[in-house]
Amino acid sequence: MPQMRHDNDGEKIKSMVKRMLRKVCFFKALTPKEINQILSIAALKRYKPGELIFMKEDIGKQFFIVKCGRIKIFTAIGTQKKKTFAYLQKGDFFGEMSLLGGKIRSASAQAMEDTELLVISKKNFKALVLQTPDFTLKLLYTLANRLNNCDKEIESMLFHNILGRLADAIIDLTKDKHVKHVKMHLDQNELAEYMGTTRVPVCRAVNTLKRSGVIEYKRGELTVLNMDKLRAISGNAVPPPLHLPVHTHSK
Ligand code: CMP
Repeated sequence: MPQMRHDNDGEKIKSMVKRMLRKVCFFKALTPKEINQILSIAALKRYKPGELIFMKEDIGKQFFIVKCGRIKIFTAIGTQKKKTFAYLQKGDFFGEMSLLGGKIRSASAQAMEDTELLVISKKNFKALVLQTPDFTLKLLYTLANRLNNCDKEIESMLFHNILGRLADAIIDLTKDKHVKHVKMHLDQNELAEYMGTTRVPVCRAVNTLKRSGVIEYKRGELTVLNMDKLRAISGNAVPPPLHLPVHTHSK
């Protein structure tokens, strides 16, 4: 009976998703009841690499949780200038800002690889915020974290030279990976967009870090060889203070 097979498939998918969700840190704090609550109001959507999920300034109607894959959150001015705010992966969420007040999307979202998202409507998202304290706490924690990252990035843009900014960007992109030699696939255009600059100065800074043995960069694969040195470059890239003559009032 086709209908029964369909229901069984639905149940199988649900229990598979539940098992997956329990392993994801976003859901670890939630009870099985709360996970069930989220699943009962979420739809599963698949996206191909390069596919846009929404554009900046669209009206926000849905909230998204990444089940698997990779999402880029970015803004663009014209065709030349792009700034990547974040790469999101399994267990991350996005699309909450416009639902909580802004109404329109603050940035665009695009799938970078085959991606599956749990999609929750605005109405259900609001109900979830009101009825699930752990979910709401996690939301606030993530928003505070994102604000903190923005502050750090403003600081880096204002006070660090290009080498320091590159070191900051690499540390930021690898911060979830607590291993000695961090490897990631990232071409230099992506790196430049993440830093909000153009490819040429990034290319020069990458070569400087390569020459000093801090990173290896081959065919779009960046490997951090010396994290301590990278941290030191990031912290010490502040221009030295100007020693201006001090004018004292003579008595
Ligand atoms: P919303 O404004 O609805 O749509 C774009 C989404 O991108 C936004 O909600 C956030 O979920 C996410 N977003 C915006 N800025 C950042 C950022 N700096 N870091 C991580 N995610 C962001």
